[in-house]
Amino acid sequence: MTNDKLWQGRFSSPMNQTLETFSESLSFDWQLYSDDIAQSLAHCEMLVKQGIISEDTGHEITRALREIKEELDSGALKLDPKWEDIHMAIEARLIEKVGASGGALHTARSRNDQVATDLRLYVRRGIGEIRGLLKDLMAAFIDQARRHIDLILPGLTHLQHAQAVRFSHHLMAYVEMFHRDDERLRDALKRVNVCPLGSGALSGTTFPIDREFVARKLGFDDVTRNSMDAVSDRDFVVEVLAAFSLIMVHLSRFAEDMIIWNSLYARLIELPDALTTGSSMMPQKKNPDGAELTRGKAGRVFGHLIALLTVLKGLPMTYNRDLQEDKEPLFDAINTVGGCLRMMTLLIKGMKPLGERMEEATRLGYLQATDVADYLVRKGVPFRSAHEVAGKVVSYAIKNGKELSDLEIEELKRFNASFEEDVFKVLIVERGVDQRRGTGMTGREAVLSHIAYAEANYLKEYKEV
Ligand code: ARG
Repeated sequence: MTNDKLWQGRFSSPMNQTLETFSESLSFDWQLYSDDIAQSLAHCEMLVKQGIISEDTGHEITRALREIKEELDSGALKLDPKWEDIHMAIEARLIEKVGASGGALHTARSRNDQVATDLRLYVRRGIGEIRGLLKDLMAAFIDQARRHIDLILPGLTHLQHAQAVRFSHHLMAYVEMFHRDDERLRDALKRVNVCPLGSGALSGTTFPIDREFVARKLGFDDVTRNSMDAVSDRDFVVEVLAAFSLIMVHLSRFAEDMIIWNSLYARLIELPDALTTGSSMMPQKKNPDGAELTRGKAGRVFGHLIALLTVLKGLPMTYNRDLQEDKEPLFDAINTVGGCLRMMTLLIKGMKPLGERMEEATRLGYLQATDVADYLVRKGVPFRSAHEVAGKVVSYAIKNGKELSDLEIEELKRFNASFEEDVFKVLIVERGVDQRRGTGMTGREAVLSHIAYAEANYLKEYKEV
């Protein structure tokens, strides 16, 4: 049991060991140390500027905080779990270094506004990191899309052959998803980047502090407008976890496509040896574990979102210790999403599309059936009837073990007199793909302009960094 807590004043007995172990957060919130020190440096400067603490004390504290940062960066300082959390641990080290005057740093501040501020700084860093990784990922997709612009493969609905599409078009679909994710994070930043410091425990402080000064120093865009909300608000963490969850949905969907493409049934891509794993029993195996783990890890991130929503939903105003449970889900989500983004970027860069296999697959499955119906429409047949005729042609072809392009004109004419020789052009799969010329479609020019658009607009901030 320990009786040297910084808040020990009103207690007559030391804290029970079980409670101490149960309630400590230092084992994970040490990850906030650089944010906590940055915050303290700004707070200290403000206290001096406002004449709340003396210049000498301010200098001493500032110097010691910078040393503590170095000690922590280098790993020289081991933090003792008896200090409960990172805020207490740093303050205790500060007092150890400069003596009792170090205690002046906590003037006009509570751990409640302190932890809320640290967390916003941490989330802001996390958003920056994840947005950078999203852009690496989009760049990898765009590069593959450009390099393989001429590959065509069967597009699927219900996992059934539907219509032929460019491989690039399929890849660029994911670029749209990840761009939306990037925008969501950029938008969330508006609500993250607001400074709660100065809200005190819940009601503010009687000291003449300058909140705007601290906010500016820390790169916040604004200060919070209600101290009670400010110390208990974790909506910004929920928003970011929700945005992360969608990133995981998108990563997991692509992982699944990759796993299918890599399967023996499809064999549309090959993955490099260095990015696959072997089986302990079956010598021939080469498994796409990176993609499978990404698909699997999506569940963890969704779980973190639900965990935090559940923590928040019944909280009475204002700060309650339950809020300490916000950190592990957030930290793990950032690590997980970051890891999956890195893994999938490598896999996308490394995957080799098997063009011949794609071509083979495209020759099967009656992918031109819609175009046959459209052909009849152009000859004056109403779409519903044209659809029926094309369906009968397909059924006939299946029964006779043929593909549409194997049929003779006489066979086609049996289904509708409007079929003429020019129908064979329609049966050339590549031609059908390229005729889809409009914005957002799968034709060569349309996809190339999508690629150029994405490159110019979606990676912009990334290139500036
Ligand atoms: N470790 C705490 C947290 O993560 C810090 C704030 C504690 N405040 C308090 N009044 N006990 O939320």
